[in-house]
Amino acid sequence: MSTVDPQSVIHNTSWFIGGHTGSWRITAIEPVTGVGLPPANFLNITRGDIDGMEEGEWELRGVTSNLRYTERDERNELIRLQAETGRPEAICAALIPIKKSQAWWELAQDERRAIFETTSGHIKIGIQYLPAISRKLYHCHDLNEPFDFLTWFEFAPEYSEAFEEMVKKLRTTREWEYVTREVDIRLRRV
Ligand code: HEM
Repeated sequence: MSTVDPQSVIHNTSWFIGGHTGSWRITAIEPVTGVGLPPANFLNITRGDIDGMEEGEWELRGVTSNLRYTERDERNELIRLQAETGRPEAICAALIPIKKSQAWWELAQDERRAIFETTSGHIKIGIQYLPAISRKLYHCHDLNEPFDFLTWFEFAPEYSEAFEEMVKKLRTTREWEYVTREVDIRLRRV
């Protein structure tokens, strides 16, 4: 029997706290599907234990994890093209928390991959916007959180239109038919 060390879960957890402090100023919080999130002025991103920290209007957490759907060639292409987050010129960001339906989670792995990439071309679409947009994916489906994923993107202001175009394309795909809640939060580095 395997046991999960609660300390290691805490250590690996990233928190996104919408409140009064943080290194990102929130410029918009728009509900896309389902219920939105309460207004907040700043986003604080922190890792580990948040006991004793100032509470926010909302607090979302997730963990980075292994790849589920990416095949070897796709992975090599992503590694070749992608840029790290934290680039000084990338002063624009988006935090897009997403929840998918029960029907999605009841699919088998191969069925999800078929929808995610074969039908929807998620990676094929996204990869065209590298390295301009840098990204991070946090999982929270198994953490009893309101969302299944926290997606994070950073880009320089000149790529704002490209970012809108990509998000629009992804939202018309078959994969997005399984999205039951999505909130689009936009930010500027302080
Ligand atoms: C910068 C362009 C993008 C690229 C290169 C990209 C790439 C990827 C890749 C490779 C994965 C699969 C990870 C795995 O194998 O488990 C993934 C998952 C995901 N991406 Fe993107 N993506 C991009 C943009 C976006 C955008 C704009 C959104 C949200 C609006 C988004 C939402 C998600 C979600 C929710 C998942 C998890 C899907 C699941 O496990 O069911 N992505 N992305």
